[in-house]
Amino acid sequence: MAVCGRDRLKNRIERYWNWRSASYELDLAKSIETVKNWESTIKGLVSHVRGKGLRALDVGTGPGQLAFYLAREGFEVTGIDISPGMIQRAGLKARELGLGVDFKTGDAEKLPYEDNTFDVVVTRNLVWTLPNPEVAVKEWRRVLKPGGRIIISDGYWRNTTWSRIHHLLLKTIKGFLKTRSLIPCRFFSHYASLIHTLPLYEGVTLKDAGRLMKKAGFQQVLSCDIRKHFGVNPYGESRYSPPPFFIVYGNK
Ligand SMILES: C[S@@+](CC[C@H](N)C(=O)[O-])C[C@H]1O[C@@H](n2cnc3c(N)ncnc32)[C@H](O)[C@@H]1O
Repeated sequence: MAVCGRDRLKNRIERYWNWRSASYELDLAKSIETVKNWESTIKGLVSHVRGKGLRALDVGTGPGQLAFYLAREGFEVTGIDISPGMIQRAGLKARELGLGVDFKTGDAEKLPYEDNTFDVVVTRNLVWTLPNPEVAVKEWRRVLKPGGRIIISDGYWRNTTWSRIHHLLLKTIKGFLKTRSLIPCRFFSHYASLIHTLPLYEGVTLKDAGRLMKKAGFQQVLSCDIRKHFGVNPYGESRYSPPPFFIVYGNK
């Protein structure tokens, strides 16, 4: 377990992502074009951060993709994730790529770092699965240095709820016929009991993220023009089909 005394909710989330860690990286690597678009977008958003010994934190790092982009930009990077399975994968990948990233298990809502530690904090597709997103975003601001940059990406995923259970059946049948994957079923069996305790479980809108960032005290909160940065929607089969996702950034 990553953090002592953590509640059952977080243990449940951790278990799902431990299981998912075996297949998640393959999904991320599916489109080379998408990987390149992410990398150039993230690099562009931190290009103004210059100096020696700069530190970056990737929160909910998963297999470490964003952490690696920042390491290649010369940052001293830490990646933190609740799932030891994900952290293990990220560590293996770092060795394969020859990149020195410090990967650690830990909770995004209670970071084991001093105030004003990092120059950059990034996070992708984590906010929707947090029980206390407000607490988390404040925590990310706390560990950023004054003037430091935050980058948050997420989307309105339309995650299955009981009222949309029929969509899950369709998704499962389609997925199974195409790739023999049972991921949607497994996802719902883990998350069904958490729906009412995760305020943004169905997905996060740009408005939600902007509100959380402003409430935490971030300044100059702006969003990226997704169409300019991504020729192909990383999450959809057709160009700009839903689900819509966003990248929003701001400064401490
Ligand atoms: C959808 S994945 C995104 C992974 C990675 N950020 C990416 O975009 O490739 C969500 C990740 O958040 C992690 N996670 C969930 N709750 C967390 C928490 N409270 N603290 C830290 N990590 C968490 C999961 O283990 C999982 O790796």
